[in-house]
Amino acid sequence: MKFLVLNGPNINILGIREPEIYGRQTYDDLVALVRSHAEELGVEVEFYQSNHEGDLVDAIQKAYFSHIDGIVFNPAAYTHTSVAIADAVKGVAIPTVEVHISEVSRREAFRQVSYIRDVALQTVTGQGLQGYNQALDILVRHLGAGHES
Ligand code: DQA
Repeated sequence: MKFLVLNGPNINILGIREPEIYGRQTYDDLVALVRSHAEELGVEVEFYQSNHEGDLVDAIQKAYFSHIDGIVFNPAAYTHTSVAIADAVKGVAIPTVEVHISEVSRREAFRQVSYIRDVALQTVTGQGLQGYNQALDILVRHLGAGHES
């Protein structure tokens, strides 16, 4: 089983951006954390991050054609604005878990809208970087893949 860990804008500057909200760990730390959890689960993971909406749509479409089984997805700010990204997730019908590092429900009003939530299998928020591993667990359980340790 093969999973895509997809991240939207400004996730590449984790550790630099608002550390009081997103913590001090970097994007590379995130990749290492999820990679090691995937090894424990016995599943494959690949990573992609972009600051551009269309690139994220392309990555979701590519996931379909490369037979990705599930997507762990933090669309970042595009969560709150992008019909195109929500349409792509719905269109490929690959099980997708929405992740937010911060607890968006306790933040600004404009963050209370998520176009992704309705098309996602589940949403994980406010768990920091561990939320990505929880999302992977949800997908593995959903698909009955790998072996959880
Ligand atoms: C975020 C929350 C979004 O509102 C914000 O725009 C982000 C990150 C999170 O991981 O908490 O860039 O998705």
